[in-house]
Amino acid sequence: MLDPAGPSADEINFLWLLMLWGAAAISLLIFALAGYAAFARNRPQAPTGLMLWGGGIVFPVAALSILLFYAMRAGDALVARPDATAFQVDVIGHQWWWEVVYRDSGGRQLISANEIHIPAGRRVHFNIRSGDVIHSFWIPRLAGKMDAVPGITNILSLVAPTPGAYRGVCAEFCGAQHARMSFDVYAHDEAALAARLERLAEAARQPPAAFTQHCAQCHAVDPGARGGRIAAPNLADLPMRRRLGAGALPNTSESLREWITNHQALKPGNRMDVFADIDPAHLDEIVGFLEPRR
Ligand code: CUA
Repeated sequence: MLDPAGPSADEINFLWLLMLWGAAAISLLIFALAGYAAFARNRPQAPTGLMLWGGGIVFPVAALSILLFYAMRAGDALVARPDATAFQVDVIGHQWWWEVVYRDSGGRQLISANEIHIPAGRRVHFNIRSGDVIHSFWIPRLAGKMDAVPGITNILSLVAPTPGAYRGVCAEFCGAQHARMSFDVYAHDEAALAARLERLAEAARQPPAAFTQHCAQCHAVDPGARGGRIAAPNLADLPMRRRLGAGALPNTSESLREWITNHQALKPGNRMDVFADIDPAHLDEIVGFLEPRR
């Protein structure tokens, strides 16, 4: 957040710097006055009107009014206004991962998780809600926080100025693995974004029998489908993603194997079933199906 990118983050950064340097200057002034009061000999009687009315009323009202003005400007920079050209993406918080839903030109849902692809230099509206408890969606370099609340859609509006990777986190305590609920945002030029979403749209593959037996009750591998028994990340484009377990591990074949057999040690309390004793042949089949192909 101290390395802001884009107009929303710039407003917040300006407000932060104003508060930091303003508070530093006021603190210095107070310490200087306190030092003067304590140590100066034969000091004159303080002018009561100036100290009470000036220091007690006029100065705080002026300082707080300036802060209020810039705080409202910063808040205004996050508010979504109707914008037909804005790129729309739905984000749904879950314990402890993020569901990400795009719409293709035909209105069909394309579902992914924990990695969000957006255009650079164009306004993006994140339509944010939650499937369980309250989470908070935060991309520190790009904008302020927005709560993900069950039953309500909050819209966060921002612009990522240049292509690149931006890290995101959950900013509201939401249970045991609140700290392991991060996500990656990649801003692309329009052609690269279209290509990446096309790869997601075409990511459906026929899963092997071991996946169907152990995983398919919860994890969908068709980007147009959702799993069933419990809310679980859609794995259609998992081979293209950079991390596993909502940021818990880098996405490699080895860490995929580690995650499937040992995820309760890596991310205790997560909702996935335990597969510590899975048949090694089945594990090989599942890892072979899901392992990275970037
Ligand atoms: Cu989700 Cu904290």
